[in-house]
Amino acid sequence: MRIMVIGLGYVGLVAVAGLAKAGYQITGVDINIKKINSLNNGKIDIYEPGLKEVIDEARLNQRISFKNIAEIKNIDCGIVIICVGTPSRPDGAADLSQVEYTIEWIKERTINSLTIIMKSTVPPGTGELLYKKYLAGFSYKINYISNPEFLREGQALKDWFYPDRIVIGGNNNKAIEEVSALYDSLNARIVKLDITSAELIKYAANAFLATKISFINEIACLCDCLGADINSVATGIGLDNRIGEGFLKAGIGYGGSCFPKDVRALNFLSTINGHNFELLRATIIVNSRQRLLPVQKLRSYLGNLVNKNIAVLGLTFKPGTDDIRESPSLDIIRLLLDEGANVSIYDPIRKNLNINLFRKDQIRFGKNILDTVKGTEAVVVATEWDQFIDTNWSEIKIVMNEPFLIVDGRNCLDPCIINNCGFIYSGIGRAKAHER
Ligand code: UDX
Repeated sequence: MRIMVIGLGYVGLVAVAGLAKAGYQITGVDINIKKINSLNNGKIDIYEPGLKEVIDEARLNQRISFKNIAEIKNIDCGIVIICVGTPSRPDGAADLSQVEYTIEWIKERTINSLTIIMKSTVPPGTGELLYKKYLAGFSYKINYISNPEFLREGQALKDWFYPDRIVIGGNNNKAIEEVSALYDSLNARIVKLDITSAELIKYAANAFLATKISFINEIACLCDCLGADINSVATGIGLDNRIGEGFLKAGIGYGGSCFPKDVRALNFLSTINGHNFELLRATIIVNSRQRLLPVQKLRSYLGNLVNKNIAVLGLTFKPGTDDIRESPSLDIIRLLLDEGANVSIYDPIRKNLNINLFRKDQIRFGKNILDTVKGTEAVVVATEWDQFIDTNWSEIKIVMNEPFLIVDGRNCLDPCIINNCGFIYSGIGRAKAHER
């Protein structure tokens, strides 16, 4: 069976790879000519472990082709999967312009009945609206299925091939079964339901996980007040099966392309539908506050930050990705610059920022950890890359200046090791005892 995937970002490319591996014939389509050219030259413009290998293998087996949207005159395949972006609008709502454009584009080129699978994250209620506005009563029968993705960056292939569940929402049982069959080879648990409920599952899952993170961050703040240790507390909580161990890592909060955007969109949706989702608003407020903590901690040890030299280790929103979208690290750097500090930066994967986030004279990119921390009074660890955890901190201390402060924004370092190397250690919610 031939399938068209429209939008070749994270979700689209992983869908292309996963479905090609399952034996389907895939045409990947995107509006970005540069992207298509580089995909056709065997290059993948996102960093996702294992993705290139699966795509190369499928290309070798002639299961994949990549085309610019302008090259497609007719859509003669039975299934089209939409994976275009739904970024935040300034008011927090999801911007659906790419989704609507794509549906109109599909309609204009449809020459037989087909099933549209929506993998883009769209607010609950969108599918029904789109169906009524564009598809109901159209000359060809077009089914609409909501099939949200729960992929994590850095583990997207693993999440595709071993999903906790697959959610398929539709108003036509035959179409639900057709989409369900696409995943036969995965042996996964499939949840079949209506379109709006399927859409809400995606938002509710992200909002719940974001809330779990903000909750543990609140407990971490309490740990700092009481002299308790958040890692031990999180372990003790997480061992309760009803709570679970995941998403209880305290720190400078969540970032990335999904949680911040989707939590804002759900908050917007709740408000316009007359529901005051107070818990979600608190989640957002706590997450923003967490980003301020490293700067407050620096101030409490260094006083005024004007002309203080501070190294920030880590730019990406989490390790294992090159993505810096809504990364807490960027806000921390902005705050430090506002306070007049001299900031040096190092990230194992992001060697520079080729977007104009900061003026070049405001920051310095170090060549490696040692070069970055040279002459600084303090280091902020903003991403828990293994390289930072495994570094020889005794060597780091030699090139730094007093008071030799480490602010561990991800609680990824061992406070005892750091203390023994002669540093002051300050984590997020880790026992004050370590802060010698
Ligand atoms: C997330 C969801 O997990 C995924 O299901 C959805 O499809 C897309 O959004 P992703 O953004 O790739 O995936 O990252 P994830 O690993 O979930 O982490 C998100 C953010 O939360 C990161 O900034 C991470 O550092 C932070 N986080 C995560 C914590 O601060 N504490 C935790 O315990 C877990």
